[in-house]
Amino acid sequence: MRFPALLLLLVASFAAHPSVDHEQLVNVDNTPGSWLTHGRNYAEDRQSPLTQITPDNVGELGLTWYFDTGTGRGLEASPLVIDGVIYSTGSWSRVFANNAVSGEPIWQYDPQVPRAWGVNACCDVVNRGVAAWGDNIYLGTLDGRLVALNRRNGKVVWTSLTIDPARPYTITGAPRIIKGNVIIGNGGAEYGVRGYVSAYDARDGALRWRFYTVPGNPENPFESAAMEMAAKTWSGDLWWKVGGGGTVWDSMAYDVDLDLLYIGVGNGAPWNRHVRSPGGGDNLFLSSIVALRPETGEYVWHYQTTPGDSWDYTATQHMILADLVIDGALTKVLMQAPKNGFFYVLDRASGKLISAEKYAPATWASHVDLSTGRPVETENADHSIEVRMTKPAAFGGHNWQPMAFNQTTGLVYIPAMETAGRYSTDHDFTYQSGGHWNTGQSQEGGAFPANRHLVNAVIKRLFKGHLLAWDPVKQTEVWRVAHEAMWNGGVLTTAANLVFQGTGDGRLVAYRADSGEQLWDTHTLTGVVAPPISYQINGEQYVAVMAGWGGAPTLLFDLPGSTAGANGRLLVYKLGGELKLPDTVEANVIPTPPPRHGSEESIATGQVLYNTHCGRCHGIGLVGSGLLPDLRDMGHDMSGNTPEVFKAIVLQGAYREMGMVSFADVMSEADADAVYDYIVDAAHARWEEQQSSPVWSEVEAWIMDWVGALIAQFI
Ligand code: HEC
Repeated sequence: MRFPALLLLLVASFAAHPSVDHEQLVNVDNTPGSWLTHGRNYAEDRQSPLTQITPDNVGELGLTWYFDTGTGRGLEASPLVIDGVIYSTGSWSRVFANNAVSGEPIWQYDPQVPRAWGVNACCDVVNRGVAAWGDNIYLGTLDGRLVALNRRNGKVVWTSLTIDPARPYTITGAPRIIKGNVIIGNGGAEYGVRGYVSAYDARDGALRWRFYTVPGNPENPFESAAMEMAAKTWSGDLWWKVGGGGTVWDSMAYDVDLDLLYIGVGNGAPWNRHVRSPGGGDNLFLSSIVALRPETGEYVWHYQTTPGDSWDYTATQHMILADLVIDGALTKVLMQAPKNGFFYVLDRASGKLISAEKYAPATWASHVDLSTGRPVETENADHSIEVRMTKPAAFGGHNWQPMAFNQTTGLVYIPAMETAGRYSTDHDFTYQSGGHWNTGQSQEGGAFPANRHLVNAVIKRLFKGHLLAWDPVKQTEVWRVAHEAMWNGGVLTTAANLVFQGTGDGRLVAYRADSGEQLWDTHTLTGVVAPPISYQINGEQYVAVMAGWGGAPTLLFDLPGSTAGANGRLLVYKLGGELKLPDTVEANVIPTPPPRHGSEESIATGQVLYNTHCGRCHGIGLVGSGLLPDLRDMGHDMSGNTPEVFKAIVLQGAYREMGMVSFADVMSEADADAVYDYIVDAAHARWEEQQSSPVWSEVEAWIMDWVGALIAQFI
């Protein structure tokens, strides 16, 4: 009988490529060796149930294979593992499918994001991963497309444009898929956009629903009752022209029983509330957690962490759903450590606040009032007239790097930071459209000097990073491990009492989940910011992590204690793995600076212009971590290296194809000359400084000069 044989073959081929469906995503513990959705499950707890790697044998962990992604820019993806294949993403939204056991490349997909779109990416050209449904995987691209790819061969099934390409939107977050709806948000609030989250039909890419997070032009009808409610909390007539912000650029979670989708909403555009909404108001739904119906996008409840946000205190940080015993009752909670420094535990059925305590130094608010659910602001929160140093900085007490929750220890592991930032008000704010930041902050007097020693000394004192184990019931710290650098990786925990985290100084480390005791570490040759994942195939457990230094602070600063490697890689470890990474030797040749040029006045003008327009990519004060060219090296890289070549790049867009757009819309020829003079002057300063060592009294004097006595209280 040939027919049953054919049937058997069909069944076998389906079994080899099981289609991902709702049942599988709801019951991921039935496939513990896989990693089917961003945070491993809909609760996004990032706890792997695998137990082959234990505290006793983790010391035998070694590299088994690695894959070069081909760039040295930021890697933030959390890979998926389905049916023996690992799917990950790299910079510029590229997708890689590799055999999860051997590392053998199966296919790659490059969406060909125009490099010039990089100017719209506040925080590096990163991507945090793909989602899976049916026989496809789904990718959000930096330039705003949602793409469905056939999981087996990487061929495009459909593409939907999710943004208005006339506005500086970007997608860096991973989609989530609920009952056939692909849910995706976007970023861009630094520039000025209106935030929203959309759902597309996984089969054909048709738009199912869209939920706006902030109200639009008051002359247009409200898109929803929620927007009508939100509009009452805004004032003035500038915010909707800038966009208002509230982008949903990263975190989501889903409760199957309550049938609620939770989205984390970002900061205001402009940041500064005195500019954005001069008459005050909470500005809903900025910095909020919002619960929606996943099938319709209908609003159910919200909790606002930072009413009237003025500091870039996004609530887009990782949310974890767990059932905790609180006051003797098993309670369905949602936990978040947003940028603002408070750890929140909410009742996720109602959105009611259960508790909130500081997990990081925060000076903008003294505490959260449990009866009103609102933060109580301090005098430090007001930067409408005086310049303030405020903790945390815009980097937050915790940023996008995922946390993890271990059900046995009951602890949440937070890639936490101590940061302080300078906040001020630009009273002459004018909105600049296109790829420019619109924060409403004054740049005056805030420029970092080009002296590396000074900048490093300041950053080291103001910015610190650690892994923090937090008890969410008692709202207390249980243990912490201090790191060399402020900016570190996301976290993985396992049912075998382990916690894994990559570090900014270029290591992957394993700790005991209950005590924080370090059990193992290995060198990754570049700083790690992505979260590790774990999977098991043919009885062997693996730990995988994307290693590639990047993100906003790495573009702004050469963070002390960090390692920026030239090769971004997917690294995979197992017990007994014996592979070694090829060492990269990095040349450290400082080129001879071009002849001095320009007056002192021109250099000073150039410094302000540089820090306003260029520092966010090439490093504040010309000191970056090497992801993008150090402009003081121009003599090295640019033939000729004259003001003419410089202006061809900066004003005429000669390097547009490489991602360096023209700045002629904000800079005149005289401005460009001034920036050139400043860069050349700084190149000479670095040349001379090479022979010197830091003089602490100079550092102190400069700090005092920078923000006066305000900063002194923090150092
Ligand atoms: C959005 C990020 C971004 C901003 C903002 C930015 N640049 Fe660039 N810049 C780039 C990229 C990307 C490159 C090309 C990198 C490469 O070599 O592949 C580049 C290259 C350059 C180069 C060529 C350097 C070399 O060694 O070849 C110069 C000069 C330059 N930029 C000047 C500026 C100036 C001046 C400003 C401010 C007016 C500025 N850039 C703002 C991203 C940026």
